[in-house]
Amino acid sequence: MHSLERVTGGLARAGQSHVLQFWPELCEAERAGFLQELSQLDLPGLRDHCEGAARAAAATAARLDRQMEPVPPESIGSTRKSDEDSLAMWGDEGLLQISASRVGVLLLAGGQGTRLGVRFPKGLYDVGLPSRSSLYQIQAERIHKVQDLADRKHGSRCSVPWYIMTSEFTLAPTETFFKENDYFDLEPSNIVLFEQRMIPAVTFDGKVILQGKGKLAMAPDGNGGLYQALEDHKVLEDMQQRGVQYLHVYCVDNILVRMADPVFIGFCVTKGADCGAKVVEKAYATEPVGVVCRVRGVTQVVEYSEIQPETAELRGPGGELVYSAGNICNHFFTRAFLQDAAASYKDQLKQHVALKKVPYLDASGRQVTPSTPNAIKMERFVFDVFPFSRNFVVFEVEREEEFSPLKNADGLTADGPTADSPTTARNALLAQHCRWVTAAHGTLLDEDGNPLPPRASASAVNKPPARCEISPLVSYSGEGLEELLRGRTLQTPLLLDEKRAKELQMNRAL
Ligand code: UD1
Repeated sequence: MHSLERVTGGLARAGQSHVLQFWPELCEAERAGFLQELSQLDLPGLRDHCEGAARAAAATAARLDRQMEPVPPESIGSTRKSDEDSLAMWGDEGLLQISASRVGVLLLAGGQGTRLGVRFPKGLYDVGLPSRSSLYQIQAERIHKVQDLADRKHGSRCSVPWYIMTSEFTLAPTETFFKENDYFDLEPSNIVLFEQRMIPAVTFDGKVILQGKGKLAMAPDGNGGLYQALEDHKVLEDMQQRGVQYLHVYCVDNILVRMADPVFIGFCVTKGADCGAKVVEKAYATEPVGVVCRVRGVTQVVEYSEIQPETAELRGPGGELVYSAGNICNHFFTRAFLQDAAASYKDQLKQHVALKKVPYLDASGRQVTPSTPNAIKMERFVFDVFPFSRNFVVFEVEREEEFSPLKNADGLTADGPTADSPTTARNALLAQHCRWVTAAHGTLLDEDGNPLPPRASASAVNKPPARCEISPLVSYSGEGLEELLRGRTLQTPLLLDEKRAKELQMNRAL
């Protein structure tokens, strides 16, 4: 059948004939483009999608609060509470797996970054570090370094493939950015970009929204679209061919993310986990992070948008938050678990409703920018597969070492810089690197040439002690710095990159 006829019939059966209202006004090229977009829709499933979205938005969302319980502290692994030997053992196990090329990393980068308000993918963002590195460059260099650490320890030549899930919004600019930057010196065949699906945004009465006369308002299907995308693009087959058994899945915006973190990987592998999540202690009750908890006895994440404020505020006898295990979107999966997720769990995942303001074309063809939410976006969440796990583990890490996300544009509040902004991300990284220098028995001089006190305790979020940045190519998590820096005094601003590190090494040798 001619594709226009097929599309017209499919739209009519789904109760969406209005989509072609402006068809007669389109030129040939616009018609071809629109027809292609419409042909890619799941037309048989469209009625269910639209009616389901309208029903879900009208219903009072089922509240899980009454069935929630915190994860018992004794079943949470922790960098804070574990002894040095255990941490070293997990780190060794992780490096061993990495050295055998059994570990890959998978970045969720299909989001639109609406809160940050930039028109390009978040990974391209430069938060203003001395190196002017983008988030992608920092991540690429951490992959280099973790490969290098594993190779040095085991005499291997391993690779950690980097899978990147993009969406229609982020694929092309991400691809271009990697090419322009020569893949940050990583082997291009080890970087695998793939695209998640898009689904139509729908009005409250179940109608697909037109963004233009020949354009639907589409949105990515949430980071839980991962499981469909893995199947669509045969990503699991690629992992199998490479011998990858363990995946570290993470979100794009955390400047402190430890890619393929050997300690986390080693912890999960040692515990025989098929699935795991890193958490940090929540900073305050309303912090926009999901909480890892148990619902009817099964561990899962309850998202910040779906927990009742009074549940989030609950406190224990010592004043501590009852639900304090904050999800930092750093997950561990075995490939076997992901295979099951892509084959079957994905079809059982809950759909989450998000109400958004989506610009649209009204029936008279006028462009409208709504001031209140007018659209329903249905999303799946990456962590909704956790309840299918047979052995799920939770691993708590220190916030100041591992979590500072970039979510919002810069601004000022009464308490200092806007939370989770370029400024707080930059400050968190600079403060961490100042701590690393101190721990390596080096001394930093501030911009006036005065030594910083060894325990400079200025609030990292508001102001780091000094502008000191250490390239991930020099140190992944603070290791290897003592031999370079012990007894040394260094002027800030400081960028300790590979070149500077070599100079310091040479001076030491003389
Ligand atoms: C996410 C987590 C939240 C956690 C917080 C920590 C989810 C659903 N929520 O919230 O529990 O506490 O991070 O920072 O994981 N993405 C896609 N495709 C999409 C939508 C998003 O790949 O369709 C990616 C984004 O590019 C990003 C990641 O998923 O890398 C997280 O998305 P974002 O919307 O930033 O999630 P948050 O609401 O911050």
